[in-house]
Amino acid sequence: SFPELGALAVGYLLGSIPFGLLLTRLAGTTDIRSIGSGNIGATNVLRTGRKDLAAATLLLDALKGVAAALLGAQISPDGAVIAAAAAFIGHIAPVWLRFRGGKGVATFLGALFGISWPAGFAFAAVWLSMAALFRYSSLSALAASLASPLVLAAMGHGPEAIVFAAMAALLWWKHRDNIRRLLSGNESRIGQKA
Ligand code: G3P
Repeated sequence: SFPELGALAVGYLLGSIPFGLLLTRLAGTTDIRSIGSGNIGATNVLRTGRKDLAAATLLLDALKGVAAALLGAQISPDGAVIAAAAAFIGHIAPVWLRFRGGKGVATFLGALFGISWPAGFAFAAVWLSMAALFRYSSLSALAASLASPLVLAAMGHGPEAIVFAAMAALLWWKHRDNIRRLLSGNESRIGQKA
């Protein structure tokens, strides 16, 4: 319906703000897309050595998802899920960067938080445990995103679980180079400089 289309558009536009790129540009570091993995997310911003910018990128990219979900919820429960998913898509494929966006981890987390905060905490718990054990940002994100739809389903949020499963599939696809590097032992550890 028309209001849900509005939720889709607002979610997408919010998600498409590339905070990692904007913050590093403002700070005058080298173009983040030519450093490390070339990604515009917090993990790659950390490879510039700027922990503050990495933390701000993580926070702002996650807040896009939270804000989208909460704005969408003003329209309807469906609107919340539509806006949350749209923010995730916006981050991954922003029109401003010719659809070459990020890998969606922080925005997935924020979107999940906005839909179900316990599921958001579950994502964070899996990510942090995996990071403590293996020190790979990508592996932690792959595991946490896989767990999220299962947690949603276990909580009785069936339709949301299906949407987040589709988002997780897209997140995995965006991590295909990371998966290759993990399998070949060439993935860089968290905080390892570019
Ligand atoms: O947030 C993306 C993370 O999972 C991997 O980032 O830069 O190592 O490809 P990166």
